[in-house]
Amino acid sequence: MTVLDRIHQHRSIREYKPDPVPDALLTEILAAGIRASSSGNMQTYSIIVTRDRALREQLYIPHMKQNMALDAPVLLTFCADFHRMRHWLKLNDAPDNFDNFMSFMVAAIDAILVSQNVVMAAESKGLGICYMGSTLANCDEIGRILQLPPNVVPVVGFSLGYPAEDPAPSDRLPLAGLVHNETYHDYSDECIRDIYRERDVKGWQRYMSAPRLRQMIEESGVENLAQVYTTVKYTRESHQAFSKKVIDYLASQDFMN
Ligand SMILES: Cc1cc2nc3c(=O)[nH]c(=O)nc-3n(C[C@H](O)[C@H](O)[C@H](O)COP(=O)(O)O)c2cc1C
Repeated sequence: MTVLDRIHQHRSIREYKPDPVPDALLTEILAAGIRASSSGNMQTYSIIVTRDRALREQLYIPHMKQNMALDAPVLLTFCADFHRMRHWLKLNDAPDNFDNFMSFMVAAIDAILVSQNVVMAAESKGLGICYMGSTLANCDEIGRILQLPPNVVPVVGFSLGYPAEDPAPSDRLPLAGLVHNETYHDYSDECIRDIYRERDVKGWQRYMSAPRLRQMIEESGVENLAQVYTTVKYTRESHQAFSKKVIDYLASQDFMN
């Protein structure tokens, strides 16, 4: 299969076989992952591999009790990490300029680029993944369980293992609605309706086909997909609370000076 075919076949996997991921295969995938570009080639990230069942049971809680945290044989947590780099600076009597928000963003971008490279490598080997947004939302609790030192913050993470389901690829907004030629061209109401026309139908069907989400949607009385996103899934209160948690954790991890 070509790289492009593989990319087009991506779908998140939320159900896994219990089969372990062999060490040699995981090492091969991670070694490919770290070929990603990084800012100044500083590689300011760390990848935490969690296989231990007891640890995964602890992580299951801040991962919002998503079954894949328990069912997948491996959890990977990609952290923004200036701890290692700052230690090296100190050993070399170099000034330390990396205890600020800019440094966090640099490290977070590095971590995210590596994570998606690992996804591509894993999928090319027949493994499946599903990102968990809870990694950032509950970065403080996850950081404590993973014993992260200062200057290390979980940014993205995913379950990894052999798929026990074969879902169809999910829809994407049309390319023309996402790409701007030369400069940004703002959208008319009509454009927005066109871009979201298929999503409005398919996204709604997707949520209504999951029994737990269907129940939440019916109980909330929302009438369309847009309302599902901001009345049920991502409320103002939850987004504000998670924002505060992330900002406080960045400060406590010495990234906000
Ligand atoms: C940063 C990030 C966080 C995500 N968090 C979750 C999650 O917590 N639970 C989940 O089931 N899927 C999660 N997903 C998966 C998305 O729902 C999924 O990628 C999207 O619906 C598109 O589907 P696809 O990956 O199958 O193409 C996340 C994806 C990303 C990129």
